[in-house]
Amino acid sequence: MQPIIEARNLEKIYKTRVERIQALKGLNFSVEKGDFTALMGPSGAGKTTLLNLIGCLDTSTAGELLMDGRQLDHLKEKELTEIRRNFVGMVFQEFFLIETLSALENVMLPALFNPGKKIQKERGAYLMELVGLKNRMQHLPRELSGGEMQRVAIARALMNSPRIILADEPTGNLDRKNALNIFAILAEINHTEDVTVLVATHNVKLAHQAKNIMYISDGLIIKEEAVR
Ligand SMILES: Nc1ncnc2c1ncn2[C@@H]1O[C@H](COP(=O)(O)OP(=O)(O)OP(=O)(O)O)[C@@H](O)[C@H]1O
Ligand SMILES: [Mg+2]
Repeated sequence: MQPIIEARNLEKIYKTRVERIQALKGLNFSVEKGDFTALMGPSGAGKTTLLNLIGCLDTSTAGELLMDGRQLDHLKEKELTEIRRNFVGMVFQEFFLIETLSALENVMLPALFNPGKKIQKERGAYLMELVGLKNRMQHLPRELSGGEMQRVAIARALMNSPRIILADEPTGNLDRKNALNIFAILAEINHTEDVTVLVATHNVKLAHQAKNIMYISDGLIIKEEAVR
């Protein structure tokens, strides 16, 4: 089977006014369809850099990154936009909800430019229910708890039925109970929405809720292990 994500000698160098920082030093790995992978490693290891490349928010400086067999650096801006909009969904440590929109409207936002308003509303409501927020649809973000806001962000990331969910320390601002709940939801969507999940975390216990763990240190993958 073709991996959904494949990296070959993937490198990323950031150039600042004063220095060059090699954040990724030649990564080789693949993520299979249906995987639920935790990305672990010390601060500055390159986790966010990698997720940003996979999410097409940034571009590599050498090597290859393939998504479902398509090489990203061969794609035009229009095709990259299409991937950002429909192929990947991103979740961050900060929830980035729009304060003036209801929870349901936030979830539906990625479908703003898609046709079929009624279907979109049904999917938005379905996703709110999936993340356990059926009775919070009309709440504004400030009327939600942190854990609830992150669940809205996950539902929003799923709105356009992406093939991959990329989550960058999604539980960084949450307490232990909410953090566990977020990982339980990631496990559930991995299963029911048939979406591949790649999540960066510093929490060893949470990482073991995933199916496998990829360890990154100083811009290199140092270990990959199956959890169960
Ligand atoms: N936009 C940027 N410009 C220059 N250097 C950067 C930039 N973004 C990240 N870096 C550097 O690249 C390296 C990798 O950073 P990255 O944010 O990917 O680490 P991380 O593993 O996500 O860390 P953390 O666990 O703290 O979030 C670090 O040395 C960082 O300082
Ligand atoms: Mg990071």
